[in-house]
Amino acid sequence: TSHHDFINKLPKAELHLHIEGSLEPELMFALAQRNKVTLPYASVEEIRTAYNFTDLQSFLDLYYAGAAVLLTEQDFYDLTMAYVQRALADSVRHVELFFDPQTHTARGVSTETVFAGIARALRQARQEHGFSSSMILCFLRHLSEEDAVETLKLALPLREQYADLWNGVGLDSAEVDNPPEKFSKVFAQARELGFHLVAHAGEEGPPAYIHSALDVLQVERIDHGVRAEEDPALMQKLAKTQMPLTVCPLSNLKLCVVDDLSEHNLARMLRAGLCVTINSDDPAYFGGYMNANFIASADALDLSRVELVQLAKNGFCASFAAPEQKQLWL
Ligand code: HPA
Ligand code: ZN
Repeated sequence: TSHHDFINKLPKAELHLHIEGSLEPELMFALAQRNKVTLPYASVEEIRTAYNFTDLQSFLDLYYAGAAVLLTEQDFYDLTMAYVQRALADSVRHVELFFDPQTHTARGVSTETVFAGIARALRQARQEHGFSSSMILCFLRHLSEEDAVETLKLALPLREQYADLWNGVGLDSAEVDNPPEKFSKVFAQARELGFHLVAHAGEEGPPAYIHSALDVLQVERIDHGVRAEEDPALMQKLAKTQMPLTVCPLSNLKLCVVDDLSEHNLARMLRAGLCVTINSDDPAYFGGYMNANFIASADALDLSRVELVQLAKNGFCASFAAPEQKQLWL
């Protein structure tokens, strides 16, 4: 319909995208063969059939297993370039891409290899398509804070070389029982170093985790944050401070955070004046990139054109791009 056409062409910024979660089954299969890595699947169809998640952990198990095919700089380049192509097709103009070094260093892949492959693709996309991007290094919260400190230490020597891209740190993986405050020291260090800060909070975890991400970690955006609705005082604070929430509707549906998209609180939070954005999270696993997330949300929640434009604008506004760049977009 013309509503869908409007969405498809609407310029967008994506602020919550795990590059490892953009690994499509076809590329996973091809990289497994190229690298002689054995996958627990016989075919691409079998991979897709396995994507029936009940919660965040059931997804993370397959997400980490899939990432095992990523070994070389070329693999990370191919992965990132495949995402860029999908993003360009969805009228995405800017991405702040999450990556998880610990998922790779644990398998003997160096931090340098990860940076180099992702950065080569993003720089080429900038050159060839004017595609704007940055990289946000995420710590795995199911691991220790010492491990996160070591991860940051291993990446810091690369900071200058990737100064045009790497501008933030984040926190992802299994949320429940791994509260933000577990990472207070490494986030304080990153803050002193001048990095932008974000954290997943309130996806499966309680509103208290959103509070501690804000008050202890001092993050500048909340990734997901949908459980804020259980805490009216927190909702007021998020509205008043215009703290951005990077909401991922199809992710929430696939991970059973909501039973049906028509029950999703994205529209309620937007209409309550919060700075809500729409993002794809792990598009290869959750059934869609940016346009699919926008269209599914618009259809399920009756989003008007004015609201769709607001959601897209919020993405640019909540980005860490330079003010001059934001002015060009907004
Ligand atoms: N939540 C937590 N960790 C993740 C996610 C997510 O949605 N995607 C990739 N790692
Ligand atoms: Zn996420």
